[in-house]
Amino acid sequence: MSNWTADDVPQLDDTVVVVTGANSGLGFEATETFARKGATVVMACRSTDRAEDAAAEIRGSAGSNGLDGTLDVRACDLADLDSVALFAESTREAYPEIDVLCNNAGVMAIPRRETQDGFEMQLGVNHMGHFALTGQLLPALAAAGSRSDPARVVTQSSGAHETGEMDFDDLHWEASYSKWAAYGRSKLSNLLFAYELDRRLDDHGLPVESVACHPGYAATNLQLRTGAESSLPFAEYGMKLANKLFGQSAAQGALPMLYAAVADVAGGDYVGPDGFQNMRGYPSVQRSNNASYDETDAERLWERSVADTGVEFPFETATPPTP
Ligand SMILES: NC(=O)c1ccc[n+]([C@@H]2O[C@H](COP(=O)([O-])OP(=O)(O)OC[C@H]3O[C@@H](n4cnc5c(N)ncnc54)[C@H](OP(=O)(O)O)[C@@H]3O)[C@@H](O)[C@H]2O)c1
Repeated sequence: MSNWTADDVPQLDDTVVVVTGANSGLGFEATETFARKGATVVMACRSTDRAEDAAAEIRGSAGSNGLDGTLDVRACDLADLDSVALFAESTREAYPEIDVLCNNAGVMAIPRRETQDGFEMQLGVNHMGHFALTGQLLPALAAAGSRSDPARVVTQSSGAHETGEMDFDDLHWEASYSKWAAYGRSKLSNLLFAYELDRRLDDHGLPVESVACHPGYAATNLQLRTGAESSLPFAEYGMKLANKLFGQSAAQGALPMLYAAVADVAGGDYVGPDGFQNMRGYPSVQRSNNASYDETDAERLWERSVADTGVEFPFETATPPTP
């Protein structure tokens, strides 16, 4: 559908949505829309203070009738597998059925540092943390979905996936590091994962679909943080200026994620803005680059992610589909 907006999101009463990075940028905007439409939104954030502030802002902007949905702030630091496991366990307990998981949180082009578990930070947060989270929430997703109305896993990638290259001999950039190349690899990994997940869900007949998306260029904290952490003079100012000149709003940038979560898309689709250079516009189904559809790399990344995170996806034991 052309010119699809947040107003086209259907009413989402009795729907449970988990959004990572829900306190800022695209995650914040998507959370607000889901909640306005009646969903229960679990805000999976590394700082519960920042997330509570964001939840208060969303509740405050709902007007005198109040918010239709519910916001539930929960701690989830994707740079720490223990935190991810605690989050997943308590969230599954609170919500045995989860309709949508938005793997959205991310960091971009930061100096090399490592997660608690020794992963390079961009791959660790953007891919490994989400891999572990998805595997541990799979039973609740499978329990919510049915053949006619499958649950969805939405993974936020980026046009920067096109710059990504997989190097399985130095996946975590121990031998050398380029912050932009590492971002590209993490975003290519998002797509390899999203498409491989969809194939595996299909093979096991589970009522869950995996869909990927990207926001084009949306002005958020993502670029400002990159600028603030850069050693180049004026980098922060440059990022601010670029956001003003070229960025679409965070609300517009959140549309592909919303579309991938609720609109009529198929597992394995990739949704992004339809306008100039796919940097802005309204959601449409697109094609990502050839490398992202490489099934050999996808399987390799999957096996490596299982080995690194220790999370096996319980495809065999997840609840079978209801007729
Ligand atoms: N904006 C764009 O133009 C653009 C383009 C392409 C792709 N993307 C992708 O869109 C996604 C969202 O980015 P955004 O633009 O909305 O940026 P943002 O405003 O900076 O939001 C990023 C979110 O990720 C969270 N996060 C960072 N590290 C985390 C961790 N260790 N554990 C849990 N959460 C963590 C941040 O939490 P804190 O607030 O606590 O730091 C924040 O909530 C990212 O995956 C990004 O790669 C964005």
